[in-house]
Amino acid sequence: MRIESLYTPHKPEMRALIEAVLANQGLQAGFYWPMDLLGAELATAEAVGIFEDEKLAGFVLYRDVPGAWEISLVVTHPDFRRRGLMETLIKHLIAAKGQNRELWLEVHQDNDAAQKLYEKLGFKLSGRRPRYYKDGATALLYSCP
Ligand SMILES: CC(C)(COP(=O)(O)OP(=O)(O)OC[C@H]1O[C@@H](n2cnc3c(N)ncnc32)[C@H](O)[C@@H]1OP(=O)(O)O)[C@@H](O)C(=O)NCCC(=O)NCCS
Repeated sequence: MRIESLYTPHKPEMRALIEAVLANQGLQAGFYWPMDLLGAELATAEAVGIFEDEKLAGFVLYRDVPGAWEISLVVTHPDFRRRGLMETLIKHLIAAKGQNRELWLEVHQDNDAAQKLYEKLGFKLSGRRPRYYKDGATALLYSCP
């Protein structure tokens, strides 16, 4: 296992990973990701990935905003789930962010797997945005000090 920053050359592998998630689970509860966002996100956001046997197993996109890194995407390839990989990758970000910065993210109210992951890592519920998603669902806001 290795953790590495991702750049434009990794885009095809990142795209393939998201496509595998959508193909395996259809519109998984609480996971929406318009593929055409990836190019724009990569141009402006930071990306860090976790590799297993040279294959991209998961990645996180985030932005550096005042006082925080704001996470916009957290995803693990379906073949690599429940091996602790995303836990390891987010722990890496928690260590890397330093003490003067938080991690922020939002999650769909029905995305139980992601909520359990963030709570295990010490994220706290910090707010709610009703009707945030296209399906009318609430976004839960989490932060990690
Ligand atoms: C949520 C997601 C990123 C978890 O990735 P993962 O690499 O499988 O997570 P890990 O193996 O590191 O899990 C760590 C902990 O998270 C929780 N967790 C992860 N998946 C879970 C699930 N399906 N059900 C319940 N808890 C889960 C557990 O507490 C787990 O610890 P445990 O295995 O010791 O019980 C993955 O399911 C995913 O990519 N989902 C689709 C995309 C998504 O919904 N992203 C979040 C919103 S952008």
